[in-house]
Amino acid sequence: MTAAPEDLATITSTTIQHYNERAAEFWQGTRDHDVTQNIGALLRHVRGAPPFHILDFGCGPGRDLATFRALGHTPTGLEGSPALAALARQHGDCTVWEQDFLKLNLPREVFDGIFANASLFHVPSQALPRVLTELQATLKPEGVLFASNPRGDNEEGWNRGRYGAYHDLQSWRAFLEAANFIELEHYYRPAGLPIAQQPWLASVWRKNATPPALRRDTRAGAGLTSGDGRN
Ligand SMILES: C[S@@+](CC[C@H](N)C(=O)[O-])C[C@H]1O[C@@H](n2cnc3c(N)ncnc32)[C@H](O)[C@@H]1O
Repeated sequence: MTAAPEDLATITSTTIQHYNERAAEFWQGTRDHDVTQNIGALLRHVRGAPPFHILDFGCGPGRDLATFRALGHTPTGLEGSPALAALARQHGDCTVWEQDFLKLNLPREVFDGIFANASLFHVPSQALPRVLTELQATLKPEGVLFASNPRGDNEEGWNRGRYGAYHDLQSWRAFLEAANFIELEHYYRPAGLPIAQQPWLASVWRKNATPPALRRDTRAGAGLTSGDGRN
């Protein structure tokens, strides 16, 4: 079923409001979460010389902005909740853009990496192709996107006051590949547990700098994938 634009707007504003009303509580509950595995997974794939320009997409109260800064990089936060954005500016001591994921206004090709830790699952799947395309466009050529999301069987809906979409690996891959990303790695979290006890799917992707219309299809006997005028 396709949601009307006003329904999508209600979904995002309700979810943002939920976080906004619990900003201090969210900070206390998550400030000590150890996501060094995820930060490492992003940074080890970024090419070129540091410091790297990193967009922390859905940065919350800024725990990871502070880490990126401590590592010598140049992070920028993006957050929809004004209360969380204020905390993020304080903790990250950096620029934090107050933007809704569904109304992004991003510069082209400025970031070496995007860190989307526990944020992209809040995008309704109907809007995900557009959001991923916008993230792709704000990465430099060959920039890297990290995403970690609670996984599921591709169900989506309300969960304790917040809207979430819970993709499995196959569905998540299809969205990312359609947005012209190349998979680098994926893993489940927390590390060291049986898969049934790993609710988080983390994945790392490189921006494919070649536009889809020019990509050569490597299947046997195939020509160019599209737009080559040789049907
Ligand atoms: C689960 S929290 C993750 C926060 C942080 N990345 C972390 O790892 O602790 C999800 C974040 O996404 C933000 N968010 C959710 N929906 C949003 C939307 N439509 N636009 C902007 N921010 C949104 C929330 O305010 C919250 O800060």
